[in-house]
Amino acid sequence: MKIYGEIDKVRAEVKAWKREGKTVGFVPTMGYLHEGHKSLIDAARRENDKVVVSIFVNPMQFGPNEDLASYPRDMEHDAKLCEDAGVDIIFHPEPEEMYDDGFCSYVDMNGLTTELCGKTRPIHFRGVQTVVLKLFHIVTPDRAYFGQKDAQQLAVIRRMVKDLNVDTKIIGCPIVREADGLAKSSRNTYLSPEERQAALVLSRSLKTGKNLVDQGETDASVIRAAITTELEKEPLAKIDYVDVVDFDTITPVQKLTGSVLVAIAVYIGKTRLIDNFIVEK
Ligand code: PAJ
Repeated sequence: MKIYGEIDKVRAEVKAWKREGKTVGFVPTMGYLHEGHKSLIDAARRENDKVVVSIFVNPMQFGPNEDLASYPRDMEHDAKLCEDAGVDIIFHPEPEEMYDDGFCSYVDMNGLTTELCGKTRPIHFRGVQTVVLKLFHIVTPDRAYFGQKDAQQLAVIRRMVKDLNVDTKIIGCPIVREADGLAKSSRNTYLSPEERQAALVLSRSLKTGKNLVDQGETDASVIRAAITTELEKEPLAKIDYVDVVDFDTITPVQKLTGSVLVAIAVYIGKTRLIDNFIVEK
């Protein structure tokens, strides 16, 4: 496995692979890798000749009051996880390699990015889209792997790739959870033991919503209300949003038809956690 900080080195190696007719799978990450990331790497390993993982805490997608400085990092652990998982290249650039002093081009989107996390994180998706398109141009992957954990991000990337004719297939992968139900996240490390326990209310509330759907409930407001009631039982939890939206367009729906995303964001203490489930009708 190679670890490169330079764009040119990644480009040269990927070009050589492509000349040999090899396919390339790509997993973009911000590091502090866990089983959720590993599930994407494993899928990429299964479906491609070569696998590239990027580890880059992208400053552009963090708002001024967000956790850029404190975002957890552990390159040694990440390199070991990637090596064991059969990754060929880790791309680990410094911010200056990605954004030079004169940088002033962005990828933006109307709609999709204004609902859900876009309400409290107005510049977040612009930063995600911009860095992901840059990474796609550097790695030129045949397939790129994204977790359903960040369902809005997955929908945004799918739309961007379609709109801008990017020749990469986007593969969505299921949410990986801890044994007790909490969705794995690099940000779970911020939680105190008491908060870690309280955080279980996210998956518990979604289970309540999912049970209603399984019993035949199709009214989005009933599902939202049931999830909200469950979340409000936890004193350490403060709701950011509980929303039911079309998974492709991220616009609110009243009735469950087609592909529907039921998504929540909840503060546990100072830590903002997200979780969701998808219903196919
Ligand atoms: P990061 O939060 O590191 O996540 C990298 C990828 O891992 C994303 O596609 C995310 O959805 C997926 N992932 C995280 N936790 C998961 C879980 N519990 N189960 C399944 N997949 C999970 O998302 C980002 O980084 C950044 O925004 C990035 C796309 C790299 C752009 O900077």
